[in-house]
Amino acid sequence: MAIFLTGSTGYLGSYLVAGLWTGYPDRLNLLVRAKTEQEARERLWQSLQLHLEFPEFLEYVNTRVRIFRGDLTGERFGLDDDEYRALVDSTDSILHCAASLNRKSEKQCLNVNLRGSLEVIQLARRAQNHHGLRRYSHVSTVAVAGKRQNEVVQEDSSIDWARSDYDPYARTKKFCEHMVHQLLPDVPHTIFRPAIVLGDSRKPETTQFDMVQAFNMLARLPVLPLRPDDKVDIVPANYVGGAIVKIHQMEKPNYGIYHLSSGTGSQTYKELTDALAKQGGWRRPSYQPWLGGPFSKTVNWMAFKGGAVGYGASLLKVFWPYLDWNTVFDNSRVMQEMGEVPAKFSVYAYPLLQFSRTNKFKYPAKPWPAAALSVGNADEQLRSFAQKARSG
Ligand SMILES: NC(=O)c1ccc[n+]([C@@H]2O[C@H](COP(=O)([O-])OP(=O)(O)OC[C@H]3O[C@@H](n4cnc5c(N)ncnc54)[C@H](OP(=O)(O)O)[C@@H]3O)[C@@H](O)[C@H]2O)c1
Repeated sequence: MAIFLTGSTGYLGSYLVAGLWTGYPDRLNLLVRAKTEQEARERLWQSLQLHLEFPEFLEYVNTRVRIFRGDLTGERFGLDDDEYRALVDSTDSILHCAASLNRKSEKQCLNVNLRGSLEVIQLARRAQNHHGLRRYSHVSTVAVAGKRQNEVVQEDSSIDWARSDYDPYARTKKFCEHMVHQLLPDVPHTIFRPAIVLGDSRKPETTQFDMVQAFNMLARLPVLPLRPDDKVDIVPANYVGGAIVKIHQMEKPNYGIYHLSSGTGSQTYKELTDALAKQGGWRRPSYQPWLGGPFSKTVNWMAFKGGAVGYGASLLKVFWPYLDWNTVFDNSRVMQEMGEVPAKFSVYAYPLLQFSRTNKFKYPAKPWPAAALSVGNADEQLRSFAQKARSG
């Protein structure tokens, strides 16, 4: 039996795969968008090289993974009858991490987040009816809390149907949680709500740059249109990934919903810019919150320009509501399960920005080694790869 995982080619999904491979014996059924088996493997290597060297990666793929080449938006993921039956029969828990994070697109959020999650829930129902499902874990977001200002939000009072949402992403993720509760009442289920996931507290490398780029743009400004004592809830990907894996694998987690966040331990903008100024020898910005209005107009205008600045501005425009709301998400539950607090952003923000700037906000991905055979016998592949690597 295996864990069915969606989103393994994404940023957070790679932490889940690596955490499950290295910490647990379970087999994984991975949903991957690809035309061929080899393309699927190469796409996995692109995301997993953040965590593992190639020979180790290849060994795990060959011995612990079954790839299902499919798409969340296809009926039964677009799998043929035999494959779909094999997926139902061999899945004993589900970790649904894939989503569209395109905050501007109603269409993408509707198709991937709503229709896609419904497909995953239907798989859960079939597995539950066939042989029972140990757990259904759904990766959601703190954005389901809707429009907020100056609050510490608790897990159980986060969803308020009378409240407006900032964007289609938040709205569709909120309804996904509702579907899980309504359609899987008889399956043990867990909802994970990460805050802003930025970087890894143990190393500067990242494969996801959208939020880094928005922060980089802010970090370059001599004047910030923010309140210096506002808090921003940022959490490192290694903490989020570690928590999801650990709680998904627990026999009986203590709660049904977890904020994966820094909570009241979140830092203020002033704490962050002071730390960056100290580590980078940069000038401290001046804070002028009254500039918020003109600033957002300028960002809107710049967002229509091309190039890196235009792209940074368009990201800032999309993320702005989450930077300006001075709202944090209580994390007592996850700290109870993990026995540790997430690392402070100021500790690893500078190396993360340096890595991102040096690499022009693009991960310097290594290609699939030509020395490795594509698909076939696992031992043969590893032997061949090692031999060719030795002979240069
Ligand atoms: N990053 C954050 O700051 C943050 C914060 C809060 C919550 N979250 C939640 O965390 C989860 C993962 O986010 P992430 O940052 O890791 O995003 P990501 O890097 O963009 O990864 C998204 C994953 O979803 C997959 N996917 C998208 N559309 C699909 C489709 N139609 N069929 C199959 N797979 C599809 C992508 O596959 P392809 O590689 O084929 O595109 C990719 O593997 C999401 O549920 C998100 O809502 C993230």
